[in-house]
Amino acid sequence: MDGDIAPLPELVDLCGRHNATVMVDEAHATGCLGPGGRGIVAYFGLEKSVLVSMSTLSKTLGSFGAFVAGDALLREYLVNVSRSFIFTTALPPTVTAASLAALNILEQQPNLVHQVQENGKYLRNGLQAMGFDTLASETHIVPVRVGNTVKTLEFARRYESKGSMLLHTSSDSAAAKLQDTSQCNGHSFQGGPGLRPLGLWKGRTLFGIGSMMII
Ligand SMILES: Cc1ncc(COP(=O)(O)O)c(C=O)c1O
Repeated sequence: MDGDIAPLPELVDLCGRHNATVMVDEAHATGCLGPGGRGIVAYFGLEKSVLVSMSTLSKTLGSFGAFVAGDALLREYLVNVSRSFIFTTALPPTVTAASLAALNILEQQPNLVHQVQENGKYLRNGLQAMGFDTLASETHIVPVRVGNTVKTLEFARRYESKGSMLLHTSSDSAAAKLQDTSQCNGHSFQGGPGLRPLGLWKGRTLFGIGSMMII
């Protein structure tokens, strides 16, 4: 959340030495990092070392829901044992179509990934030149450490009164901060039972489970 890049090669190495499985949450990397925006696992070329890769469709892709990507055994396992997958209404086809459209745009315009990083750099450099602390940010996520919660909320209010949209305000006792990100917001909800094939994407069946897709 601070815009730094996790030391995934070291983490994978550590897990390897302790016979642990690696699962990566790509929510903030999908569409923004790695070749074609395929995320941090692809960024480090660690596709063969990471068993579970999950992400959301609700941030860069501007849609709703999430997905888990992994080998056939993992997918089979999740389809059969994930309670929230089995007992939740599948994603509506309209939402899935929006996600697919976003993936298509990303595939056709891979320069967008470069562009979002350039935008992050521009914002970060500008803020730093003005004296702001952007913590360890090195990506499109650029936090600004303000100092305390009251000041942070005041900062956000003034920012919005200038006609700019602040997408995310976060505060904690240690370092209240603001985050201006490339994200679209959206949080999952739970519905009734159902697991439905939604369609095909690149020859793979998409299953909607609650707010998730398994590809
Ligand atoms: C790291 C991370 N993973 C997963 C999620 C969940 O995304 P969704 O809004 O699709 O539930 C979020 C949402 O903010 C997130 O920050």
